[in-house]
Amino acid sequence: PKKVTVRSFAQAKERREPLVMVAAYDALFARLSDEGGVDAILVGDSLGNVVAGLDTTVPVTLDQMIYHGAAARRGTTRALLVVDMPFLTYQVTTERALLNCGRVMQETRCDALKLEGGSPEMAETIRALVRAGMPVMGHLGFTPQSVHTLGGFRVQARGDDAARQLVDDARRLEDAGAFSIVLELVPADVAARVTEAVSIPTIGIGAGLGCDGQVLVLADLLGLTDAFTPKFLKRYGTMAADTRDAVRRFATEVRARAYPGDEHAF
Ligand code: KIV
Ligand code: NA
Repeated sequence: PKKVTVRSFAQAKERREPLVMVAAYDALFARLSDEGGVDAILVGDSLGNVVAGLDTTVPVTLDQMIYHGAAARRGTTRALLVVDMPFLTYQVTTERALLNCGRVMQETRCDALKLEGGSPEMAETIRALVRAGMPVMGHLGFTPQSVHTLGGFRVQARGDDAARQLVDDARRLEDAGAFSIVLELVPADVAARVTEAVSIPTIGIGAGLGCDGQVLVLADLLGLTDAFTPKFLKRYGTMAADTRDAVRRFATEVRARAYPGDEHAF
């Protein structure tokens, strides 16, 4: 199968072919996702919640993203590999953003980066990154790195003014050279309006069917995170229950001296 590029991302929107992205954080799950046929693998800073046990993505560091990005790279052959830039590594100055983003591109060999926010300052940073050869995926709506200023995990861009603001932000990101935009926790009609307003593909999470693609955290769709129950999530597996059950059966057999059997011994 042909490798997915930022160009094929743009073509998918023209052809109205929905894009499929999952967030995965290591070679094991990146390989399984790649083999499952996703278009893009995001090494999301949601790894802070999912694998590090944190409450927010705010404490995630650049070195942690590089470690996970490099691991996911080794499992990814066809899908576009996108790495999240973590909190405060791209917001301070454009110069620092260029250096930090450059490090992630060089040390993980990822294909693109994702940055949260749609302010004029963020757009200028994105313009500089793209000019330097680094493809950028934007991220609007609920932006988890700003959870403390947004006042919690909640739907964004409700109401006409907020919806217009979101459309403006998306246009600004497109104008700055972003190749795609994640829309997180946005009313479906607003996400559809944004999707119509830009020529780059929108990838939704909790943003309805009107986006050009969908993203879920792989661990969530596998059913590994069964304490996490947002309305938008659909589980396609039962891996939390499967894992507990497998561990219980292993423990039972070890305690009963039923494992290892003769066939497992040398
Ligand atoms: O960190 C992440 O997994 C994300 C996606 C949910 C879009 O940003
Ligand atoms: Na993220």
